[in-house]
Amino acid sequence: MQYRSTRGLSDLVGFQDAALAGLASDGGLFVPEVIPRLDLEALEGLSYPEVAWRVMSPFCDIPTRDLQSLCFSAYGPEYGGEVAPLRADPWGHVLELFHGPTYSFKDVALQFLGRLLNYILEKRQDHCNLLVATSGDTGSAALRSVVGCSRLRAVVMFPKGRVSPLQELQMTTMGYPNTHCLEIDGTFDDCQAILKQLNRDADWKRQHRLGAVNSVNWARLLAQSVYYVWTWLQLGQPLQVVVPTGNFGNFLSAWLAHRMGVPTRRLALATNENDIVHRYFQTRRYARGGVHQTLAPAMDIQVASNLERFFYLAGGGHQVTDWMAQFEQSGSLDTPLLDVGGPEIVSGSANRGQILQAIRQYFQETGTVLCPHTAVAWYVSRQLPPIGPGVLVATAHPGKFPEAVGEALGINYPGHPGLEALRDRPRQVVALPAQPEAVRRWMEGLTSLG
Ligand SMILES: Cc1ncc(COP(=O)(O)O)c(C=O)c1O
Repeated sequence: MQYRSTRGLSDLVGFQDAALAGLASDGGLFVPEVIPRLDLEALEGLSYPEVAWRVMSPFCDIPTRDLQSLCFSAYGPEYGGEVAPLRADPWGHVLELFHGPTYSFKDVALQFLGRLLNYILEKRQDHCNLLVATSGDTGSAALRSVVGCSRLRAVVMFPKGRVSPLQELQMTTMGYPNTHCLEIDGTFDDCQAILKQLNRDADWKRQHRLGAVNSVNWARLLAQSVYYVWTWLQLGQPLQVVVPTGNFGNFLSAWLAHRMGVPTRRLALATNENDIVHRYFQTRRYARGGVHQTLAPAMDIQVASNLERFFYLAGGGHQVTDWMAQFEQSGSLDTPLLDVGGPEIVSGSANRGQILQAIRQYFQETGTVLCPHTAVAWYVSRQLPPIGPGVLVATAHPGKFPEAVGEALGINYPGHPGLEALRDRPRQVVALPAQPEAVRRWMEGLTSLG
């Protein structure tokens, strides 16, 4: 399988190069030349890791045996046999994706991606430094993804005093020889600007083997599409899911499952007040707004990078190059109706009051607590015209967000016990000013891995 850039200006590459590069050299995102149809019957009755390698195999230039063992390792002991359980509720099912080591859906992709990159680098006798900017949630999943991976190191930059105390604890107590935390004296935007600036220096990037594991990485989306195939296999009914999404990665993974042949009735996307993708699907106008700080902070995003992949794959093709140039210049873009003939795509958003209300109401009606991101999705699902039982995608454990849950329920809600247990662990963190030069110098001081 070959991959091309959505902007069409860089060479075709294989899966392994696409996974290592993250972003294409012309600034576009990698997409597969074709999306193969799955043999769904052959997947019936299989375990999650078995489904994972069979779904991903046509997309990967990796020998079957090796891909199998990567999947069994990613979805083995760390998950204790429950990668993506479906729990019944009065409205259908909840797909719980927070049973990984850092209690969020990001683990599902990153536990695989870390092992995959390590495997590729082992073959190439090379190594990689994954430099990550985080507003809180991605950081711990990225750090955890390199544990046991001798060819990888993860360096996470987080903004000082602007991540939740539990998130900070989760990152700074990780403490493995190949995991590092940088507390940047600035905002999340400063962390991202540092990341972008260091990535722009192509020679330095190559010399210091910089890699990326955010959701622009194709392999991450592919690993996420597996849980939608899995959901269909468990329920045996056309997919009808409500997906909390920010960067459009989680939603695009559901749409990919449909393109692989999973029968799909309706795909609903749910955003918080940062509703750029909701507005896009209402109007077909993609227009940047200001970023709002919300109770569902992992979705506080105003540029939904993965929408570019949807534009390309849903019919935009190479027009996307001009579209993205226009968006980057003017901050807005009008597209024709895309994905004509595909499943119904609907959308909605929830504000602060609605998130709190959703956590409260769901708890009153079911006795189960939702995280604020999942609460966004449940709120949106209640606003949509009912078409029968659906699947709510639960992306984080509520115990990661005790302040929001406590406020909604009017109680002192405890953090996840696994997080509370970290309070006594030693913390390792390096404080740096919000200057690219400071991070550059610190990275240059790292010892070689390979
Ligand atoms: C808990 C949680 N839910 C949902 C999302 C949305 O995922 P995406 O932005 O990849 O669509 C995120 C992303 O950061 C998240 O951390």
